[in-house]
Amino acid sequence: MTPTPPPTSPPPAPPLAPLERVPEGAWNAADYESLAARHLAPAHRAYVAGGSGWDTTVAANRAAFGRWAVVPRLLRDVRAGHTRLSLGGQALAHPLLLAPVAFQRLAHPRGEADTARAAHAAGAGFIASTLSSLPLEAIAQAAGPARWFQLYFQPARETTLDLVRRAEAAGYTALVVTLDASIQLASRSALRAGFRMPAADGLAGNLAGYPAGAATALAEGESRIFQGAMRHAPTWDDLRWLLAQTRLPVWVKGVMHPDDAVALRAEGAAGVVVSNHGGRSLDGAPASLAVLPTVRAAVGPGYPVLFDGGVRTGHDAFKALALGADAVLVGRLQVYALAVAGAVGVAHMLTLLVEELQACMAQAGCASLADIGAHCLAAQPWPPVDTTAPSGTPIDAHDPNAPPC
Ligand code: FNR
Repeated sequence: MTPTPPPTSPPPAPPLAPLERVPEGAWNAADYESLAARHLAPAHRAYVAGGSGWDTTVAANRAAFGRWAVVPRLLRDVRAGHTRLSLGGQALAHPLLLAPVAFQRLAHPRGEADTARAAHAAGAGFIASTLSSLPLEAIAQAAGPARWFQLYFQPARETTLDLVRRAEAAGYTALVVTLDASIQLASRSALRAGFRMPAADGLAGNLAGYPAGAATALAEGESRIFQGAMRHAPTWDDLRWLLAQTRLPVWVKGVMHPDDAVALRAEGAAGVVVSNHGGRSLDGAPASLAVLPTVRAAVGPGYPVLFDGGVRTGHDAFKALALGADAVLVGRLQVYALAVAGAVGVAHMLTLLVEELQACMAQAGCASLADIGAHCLAAQPWPPVDTTAPSGTPIDAHDPNAPPC
């Protein structure tokens, strides 16, 4: 008798092409995460969603928001309410910026041109990554005036300086130096899903044309980490050198310790971004929301502090503002929205996020960002449930058939 072959599962459906319209089912900004599952190949999705190592810090970033509740207030008049702010001397309509995210053409053929255009349309600041798929000059043409350039130190100072000069010439108004990613452990979840980074030379639009760094030959007994991967990692001397090279304000991203924040302020950094790289750097690092209050307390009330890590809703943004952030960066959500519907999706996601923030402010009795503070929050005594998890069924609160509240 011929043995019956074991049942095989059908191959996964190929990802859908990005839409050119607002998708059905995007009622909340977080819905773009589940919708993106249809538009990203599983391996690419795992690359975007994953963190380094075991994703411990990715999970911590999300869980941290559940530890806080927003306290509703009654009878406050918020009819003159707004979310305007001035950040680094720039007037912004709201405190949401798009975080630097590398290689966006993995998510959409138009890549950063679409996210930059969407940020401009939705009044959000845009931070272009050193590792963007498109050159920074092309992104600048699509972006609005609130465009910043995220700088990774390069092995050769001439290359770093050339990137700075190009950013200045292209009208970027600030630099954001990311210092937490000199070494990143591979994401186990992305590896398991079969993701392999395509050759970087075809992906990193800014770095084409610079001489490739010579391969590091290790001497007997040298470490692949200390003398290898960390050989060109920047130090305080490099940061001082950079600060002396440019008149642009220099922000530092990746700050997780109050002493680092205080030292950066003393060196002349324009501000800091409290961030653990969305859990993609040190796996096991604390949630960035957990350290935000200590950083704010250390630098005092007047020094600019930005925040990212795990933001999926306007309520998350509200909590970060309440715990000390002046503004909030959005990482993965922009990639998901880009994959689903390009610039239209990103602009729509940002609009939803701003409205969610405004609704939260109104219910908490806050008519402006200045009204938001720790007094608006209460600690949650029970284990949090993450209702934005992509497996959850989205509920449209505006749907006439939605269950009554
Ligand atoms: C990033 N991030 C990042 N940061 C940076 O400074 N330069 C970069 O090139 C990148 N690239 C990048 C790629 C991808 C796919 C992701 C998901 C993230 C980190 C990013 O700026 C931000 O710190 C986190 O994404 C914030 O967390 P959430 O919002 O994604 O949870």
